[in-house]
Amino acid sequence: MNYTKVTPQILELFKNIVGNEFVFVDAETLEINASDETEDHKFIPEVVIKPANAEEISQIIKICNEAFIAVTPRGGGTGLSGGALPLAAGVVLSTERLNKIIEIDERNLQATVEPGVITEVFQNAVKEKGLFYPPDPSSRGTCFLGGNLAENAGGPKAVKYGVTRDYVLNMEVVLPTGDIIKTAANVLKNSTGYNLTQLMCGSEGTLGIITKIVFKLRPLPQKDVTLLVPFSTSEEACRGITAVYMAGINPSGMEFVEREAIVKTKKYLEDLGKGVNIDLPDGINAHLIIELDGNDEEALMKDAEKIMTTLADYETGEILFADSDQQKEELWRLRRNVSPAVNAYSLTKAEDVVVPRAALPALITSVKEIGSEYKFNSVCYGHAGDGNLHINIMKEQLSDEWWNKEVNEGIAKIFKRVVELGGTLSGEHGIGIAKRPYMSLAMGEVNLNLMRGIKKVFDPKGILNPGKIF
Ligand code: LAC
Ligand code: ZN
Repeated sequence: MNYTKVTPQILELFKNIVGNEFVFVDAETLEINASDETEDHKFIPEVVIKPANAEEISQIIKICNEAFIAVTPRGGGTGLSGGALPLAAGVVLSTERLNKIIEIDERNLQATVEPGVITEVFQNAVKEKGLFYPPDPSSRGTCFLGGNLAENAGGPKAVKYGVTRDYVLNMEVVLPTGDIIKTAANVLKNSTGYNLTQLMCGSEGTLGIITKIVFKLRPLPQKDVTLLVPFSTSEEACRGITAVYMAGINPSGMEFVEREAIVKTKKYLEDLGKGVNIDLPDGINAHLIIELDGNDEEALMKDAEKIMTTLADYETGEILFADSDQQKEELWRLRRNVSPAVNAYSLTKAEDVVVPRAALPALITSVKEIGSEYKFNSVCYGHAGDGNLHINIMKEQLSDEWWNKEVNEGIAKIFKRVVELGGTLSGEHGIGIAKRPYMSLAMGEVNLNLMRGIKKVFDPKGILNPGKIF
């Protein structure tokens, strides 16, 4: 689409709204805002604006809507599907100055925040009050809550506690027309018409700009233990997962990590001077990281023992039982760094497929077969308790031609297999631009047209985050 360019006159209007110092056209700022963590994409915007509040965003977006200028909202820039990339140049609207925790309401177990709060800062703030915000993406140290909502981020605790969308009660949103709305009320139950809150979750900044969020919280579990269980093969590890659930246990983390992911992450952390002391014996090709949490230590220990007895029927190595803070911290540091580590050694395409949990062994077998057929290596890890597998496809020595054609055919084949197994394209990273070409594999034309219709109602001229999802 041919969007209007940002003229000097329009730049002046923006400066009048937010102040000169928050309108950026310098090469360095444009460059930083041209990419996120998705492959090596780069789309240089015309201007980056850092507004302070919803009113300023509303005024900016009204101007863009009238003039037909593309607007791309941006949080922490940690996305893995390209949601924050300004495909049509135009304006990048950063939420970085909307970074206040407005209220933690201990009586109602709720918190009101702005979208530019860093996820870990929020987790720690509620923890200090004995409360718990479970969504825990690996990028928690730099990602923003607004971006977590836009992509419906998950993380390891989703398997017991749910994903970002499960914690949102209400939002303030600026629509592409400039209207500022509340999506719901600050209540735990709500059957009042269509659920606009949930429609915004995972809409990847295509329907509106989130300017305030009301989250629900939980009491903080007092105890946890983590087990590291080595397996002879990835398939065996995935079969082990089903067995743990069938034994009646509900872990607060059930992560799968292939050997190669651990090898790369150990090296990556060592190179950073933050090495972890975790053994990787021969013959071990995958691990499960299983976390149990609760308030009753004895009950946790019983569950841990039950897991060990259950998994005794599988091909496991020696199980590490981590109960010291240091061991737990090392294990989770290792897990959290898999994605940056894998990306440090090669350009990758990061897939985020999800299948019914019991279909994971079949999926892993297929991924490796398709990899041999299309000559790419893949490193697999993820939230296996949710059936959510991250497949990092490595470019390594492959030529650009092969990477852009044959590898994409291989990826389409993986997605077809995922759909055959009853799964879908993304569990928690979103569609953005990276999975957009494959949407029709997971969704019929009728569904896609419903989505296009919804987009049109919110954003009649199509100025907000163009080129994403479909
Ligand atoms: C993770 C991110 C990449 O699971 O989703 O580490
Ligand atoms: Zn993940």
